[in-house]
Amino acid sequence: DAATLKSILSVAPVVPVIIHDDVSSARNLAEALVAGGLPNLEITLRTPNALKVIEEMAKVKGAVVGSGTVRRKKDMKASRDAGCQFMVSPGAPLALLEAAEDISIPLLPGIASPTEAMAASLMGYSYLKFFPAEAMGGTPVLKAFASPLPDIMFCPTGGIDIENAKIYLGLSNVICVGGSWVVPADAIAAGDFDRIEALAREAASLAQ
Ligand code: 3PG
Repeated sequence: DAATLKSILSVAPVVPVIIHDDVSSARNLAEALVAGGLPNLEITLRTPNALKVIEEMAKVKGAVVGSGTVRRKKDMKASRDAGCQFMVSPGAPLALLEAAEDISIPLLPGIASPTEAMAASLMGYSYLKFFPAEAMGGTPVLKAFASPLPDIMFCPTGGIDIENAKIYLGLSNVICVGGSWVVPADAIAAGDFDRIEALAREAASLAQ
């Protein structure tokens, strides 16, 4: 529910968006991010082993693991069973929001327009992902949402980096941002978890 999402998303300014398939390095990756100050981890369901990666990361002390790219009810059941504490979707189709009512962990649905935000709000959602944030107009659009939709808070994701994250986080209706910049594919491939921890520390120092 909204209170649970609020308490999770308030903990750190950035949610790393992780595309990872290698189960054997999953714990090291999660440990680096948690050590750097980013406990909330979104693991996208885009790789064959994503649920196994989630199970490994959920064992890491301090990690709050969620699934991303949630599109179907079966994704939600699998996320819950793998140990997720939250779920993220690129969209907010009514059928998905209705199916989420039977799942014990909260969903952060994605929206890109006022009508979509209002539809989700009518279903009881007050925390939404703004996706894809930069392509959909970025901070001016979120700023324009604030006055007519004052009760809705956003986690913008898509095209965010350490520089524009500061601007998003300065908006009154942004609780945190999501992004993959803290988990560069080349650092993961090289097993450079020190670099990932440093990127996480830099991201965690942003004002929320
Ligand atoms: C995604 O779904 O891949 C996220 O929106 C991440 O976007 P980014 O790679 O632009 O941070």
